[in-house]
Amino acid sequence: MNAKPERIIIFDTTLRDGEQSPGATLNIEEKLTIAKQLARLGVDIIEAGFAFASPGDFEAVSKIAQSVGKEDGPVICSLARARRDDIKTAAEAIKGAAKGRIHTFIATSDIHLQYKLKKNRQEVLALAEEMVAYAKSFTADVEFSPEDAGRSDPEFLYQVLEKAIAAGATTVNIPDTVGYLTPSEFGALIKGIKDNVRNIDQAIISVHGHNDLGLAVANFLEAVKNGARQLECTINGIGERAGNAALEELVMALHVRRQYYNSFLGRPIESEEPLTNIDTRQIYKTSRLVSNLTGMLVQPNKAIVGANAFAHESGIHQDGVLKNKLTYEIMDAQLIGLTENQIVLGKLSGRNAFRSRLRELGYELSENELNKAFVRFKEIADKKKDITDWDLEAIVNDEIQQAPDLFKLELVQVSCGSNAKPTATVTLRNPNGEELIDAAIGTGPVDAVYKAINRVVNVPNELIEFSVQSVTAGIDAIGEVTIRLRFEDKVFSGNAANTDIIAASAQAYINALNKLYLSLQNPRHKAEAAA
Ligand code: KIV
Ligand code: ZN
Repeated sequence: MNAKPERIIIFDTTLRDGEQSPGATLNIEEKLTIAKQLARLGVDIIEAGFAFASPGDFEAVSKIAQSVGKEDGPVICSLARARRDDIKTAAEAIKGAAKGRIHTFIATSDIHLQYKLKKNRQEVLALAEEMVAYAKSFTADVEFSPEDAGRSDPEFLYQVLEKAIAAGATTVNIPDTVGYLTPSEFGALIKGIKDNVRNIDQAIISVHGHNDLGLAVANFLEAVKNGARQLECTINGIGERAGNAALEELVMALHVRRQYYNSFLGRPIESEEPLTNIDTRQIYKTSRLVSNLTGMLVQPNKAIVGANAFAHESGIHQDGVLKNKLTYEIMDAQLIGLTENQIVLGKLSGRNAFRSRLRELGYELSENELNKAFVRFKEIADKKKDITDWDLEAIVNDEIQQAPDLFKLELVQVSCGSNAKPTATVTLRNPNGEELIDAAIGTGPVDAVYKAINRVVNVPNELIEFSVQSVTAGIDAIGEVTIRLRFEDKVFSGNAANTDIIAASAQAYINALNKLYLSLQNPRHKAEAAA
C-alpha cells in the first residue's frame, strides 16, 4: 500500500477486536458471511481474526483469506503478538489471500511493561524490531502496533516506531487501548509522531481506539487532521468493553463533512471526491447483519444506524422536514442504504419478482438460500398482506443466518391468557433425526416455551437477554427476536424473525442452543486473549 495515500484507508476489525465483545462470539460460517459483506461494503483491509488464539480462529482467518481475499478484494490480515509462533501461525493463516497482512503488536506503556510483560524498554525495543523483521520474512505487508500507545512515553514510542519501520513495518498503528485520550491529545500524539519519527514517511500512520469515554470517533477525526491515513474500526462500534470506533460514524463524518476534511488531505476544498472507498449504501445492511449474527443490538439513538437516526418526532421538526428535508437533515437516509419503506411484494408475487427485488437490495443468494428464503416469504405473505423491503431484509437475514441446524423446531404451541397457566408444547427433531416432544408451564408463554425446549435439549444455560423488535409498523408486523444465553463463561446469541413472536422466540432460542451444543462438541481453547 502506498505510504502516502490520498484518501483514508478503512481497516475493519469487526471480526477480531469486535468479536472480543463479551458474548459476540461468531462461528466460522457467520464470520465468512460478515467478511463477504465487508468486501461488498468496500473496506480496504479485513482483520479476520487472531489466528494463534485457537484452531477455530485459525480456520476462520484461513477460510476468509481463501474466499474473500481475492486480487480485487480487501487485504486479509491476522493479528499476532510479537512472538515467533504467533507470527508464523498468522502467516500460515493468511497465505491463501492475494493480499495478506500480518499485524503484530507489543505494549509500550510503562504500566504494561512492568505488570504485564515484565520487560524493560530495551527488551521491548529489541523485540519490536526482531518480530517485525520476522513477519516481513513472510509478507511485504506488515503492520506494527505499540499497544497502549496512548499512555506510553512519547519519546520511547518514537524510538520503537522508528525501529519497527526500519525493520519493514509498512503501517504503524497507534492504539489508544484503554480509551483514555481526548481529541486534542490524540491529535497532538499523531503530530508528535509525524514530527519526530525520522523514517515516518516510509509508513502509513494508522489509529485504533476504544470508546471508554465515548471519544473514539472524535479522536480519530482529530488524528486524520494530523496525518493519520488508516482508521481501525468496527461495524456498530462493537468491541472490547465500550467498543471500538464505529466504522459507519467515521465514514459518514468524512463523507458529509468532506469539504471540511479535504484540506487536511491536500485536496481542493470544493472537491466532491469521496474520502474513503466505502459504498455507503451498504452501511445499513452491514450493520443489521452484524447485529443479527452477534446478537449485539444497536441502541435506537445510535448515530447513523440506530432506529431513530432518521426519525423526526417533534411537530416542529416534522413540519420543517415536510417543507424542506434540509431543515433538520444533514444526510439522506438513502445514502446509507435505508430504502423508503415501500410496499414491494405480496402473496401473488412470484419467485422472479422476489429474486429481482433481493438483487436490487444487494443480496446475491445461492439457489439453495433463495429457495429457503422464498418458502419463508410465501409463509409470511400468507399472514401479512404487504411485504416491504424491511420485511424482505428480515426474511433473508433470518433464512441465511448460519446457526448450525442440529436441533430442528418442528412445532410450538402455547396456551395462555389472563386466568390460565402459560403452557407450551414443543416438538423438536434431534441431530439423529429423532422426534422429541415435551411440555412445560412457565411464568409467561415464552418462559413456558423455553422450559419445554430445555427439557428436550437438556443443556443447562442461563438466558441473559431477550428482546423483540418490530421490523415495520402495524399489527401484522414481523417481530425480530434476539436472545443471548450463557453457558459457563461463554455467551451464545440467537436471532429469528416471524409474524408470530412466540414462534420467533422459540426459533431464536433453538439457534442459540444449537451454537452452544456445537461448541460443546468442539471445545475451543482460546490462547491468552489479545488486548
Ligand atoms: O486495543 C488495542 O490496543 C488492540 C491492539 C492489538 C491493536 O486491539
Ligand atoms: Zn483494540
